[in-house]
Amino acid sequence: MTFKACLFDLDGVLVDTARFHYLAWKSIADKLGFVFTEHDNEQLKGISRMGSLDILLEIGKLSLSKEEKVRLAAEKNLLYLNYIQLMTPDDVLPGVLDFLGELKTNDLRIGLGSASKNARLILDKTAIVNLFDVIIDGNLITHAKPDPQVFALGAQMLKIENNHCVVFEDAVAGIQAAHNAGMKCIGIGSPEVLGEADKVFPGFTNMKLADLKFS
Ligand code: BG6
Ligand code: MG
Repeated sequence: MTFKACLFDLDGVLVDTARFHYLAWKSIADKLGFVFTEHDNEQLKGISRMGSLDILLEIGKLSLSKEEKVRLAAEKNLLYLNYIQLMTPDDVLPGVLDFLGELKTNDLRIGLGSASKNARLILDKTAIVNLFDVIIDGNLITHAKPDPQVFALGAQMLKIENNHCVVFEDAVAGIQAAHNAGMKCIGIGSPEVLGEADKVFPGFTNMKLADLKFS
């Protein structure tokens, strides 16, 4: 199979914002009076802001009104934005720029497929926005991962068949979304967590186009 496009998740794949999401949600949990661990945080990766809050409240065994949930989600986002405002091009994870450069040199198209409504701000802050041929973010989608919508829309906008796209993901829900779209998926992170991916790499350091071969 010759691939024609690569679709990248953002948080935890191209930049280490997964940590900022965790710290922001942890502040909310602290305030509500329960413990929220990094292990718990795995469940929130790739999940929308409101979906994440629902999981957080389940962990804390709390049930809140719709109004209170909207208020808490906004509060979490303000905390998260404080971290993002400080981001610079140095926050792009190691090896990412070289790998994107190799894709460009070989005429592969590059897309973003993120659940985040803050994706464009992060791409701007880290100065990589111009590297993308298409950007699908949380403002454009109605169905959260593991629904394939975010990646299917990316492929459609690039005018490339789904099975000619490879997805890069750090979240189980994202790997499922890629597979539900009929795409291969490379997991970025640990094989223990991302066992459902077609291949898993710890990051982009030394990753090559040749690694996009699947048996
Ligand atoms: C995903 C993150 O990329 O975006 C999730 O993995 C996050 O943790 C989701 O909840 C939504 O992000 P935002 O920036 O719109 O709150
Ligand atoms: Mg992610």
